Amino acid sequence: MLSRLKQMVPLSVRQEIKRQMAAREDRRDPITTPRVPPRAETLIGGGDFEHVGDEFFDILKRHGLSPDMQILDVGCGQGRMARPMVGFLTNGSYQGFDISSDGIDWCQLHYADQPNFQFIHIPVYNKRYNPGGAVQASDFVFPYEDERFDLVFLTSVFTHMFADDVRQYLAQIQRVLKPGGKALITWFLLNEKSLSAENPILNFAFEFDDVSRTTTPKTPEAALAFDEGFVRGLYEELGLSIETVEYGHWAQADSTFQLQDMVVAVK
Ligand SMILES: C[S@@+](CC[C@H](N)C(=O)[O-])C[C@H]1O[C@@H](n2cnc3c(N)ncnc32)[C@H](O)[C@@H]1O
Repeated sequence: MLSRLKQMVPLSVRQEIKRQMAAREDRRDPITTPRVPPRAETLIGGGDFEHVGDEFFDILKRHGLSPDMQILDVGCGQGRMARPMVGFLTNGSYQGFDISSDGIDWCQLHYADQPNFQFIHIPVYNKRYNPGGAVQASDFVFPYEDERFDLVFLTSVFTHMFADDVRQYLAQIQRVLKPGGKALITWFLLNEKSLSAENPILNFAFEFDDVSRTTTPKTPEAALAFDEGFVRGLYEELGLSIETVEYGHWAQADSTFQLQDMVVAVK
């Protein structure tokens, strides 16, 4: 009943109602933490901006993040994962890029006093996040030299990209990582357990192609899940060796990990 009512209200109207409610909450209880956007200006949907960033920072540290590292955040959005690294990366540097100019503008403004944090807008097309983009992700070459980074991470980015795009990005990640460098990437992985989950938080009900499924056939980029065998094969083909896979609670009710699955690999 509720979902039928939801379908009758256009998305733009629902978004505006949500924005107005967030603005009211901002007036009642303003956010004062530096680099955390007011609720009404938050571009990344779902979850608590600050908490999700802090939680991922702990995961990065568990996987060896140290203050002297060169870090790349692909699809950095509004700096949700960058924020906890301010003050930590004392001898290192952080580079982030994204196709969302709103996200990059926000970061460039709010990190202007952090010379070792840089944010770049890239003109890559995505129906949901950058419909005016002129470059296909499957052709995009990262604007960094070979073997520059100790650590590359992507949170909730490959979950919005197609198989050919993901292949190109993984090849680029392999290229810009130093030997021994790590890639931490979140995915929705389709395997026996997630495919047979009774009440998954996201329902990838629609086949998109032979390696991926989507929740939303009209805008498949809204959320894409990939066959785990395909993902493992890609890493192997591209010279990235998988260290661990941690399964998120989106489809594995017994998981205490974050929402999405995460693959940690070494070059
Ligand atoms: C759900 S948001 C996550 C943002 C950020 N990683 C975080 O966790 O806060 C997805 C992000 O991926 C970005 N994105 C989508 N396709 C991309 C692409 N081909 N290259 C770089 N960023 C992309 C979007 O613009 C958006 O900022």
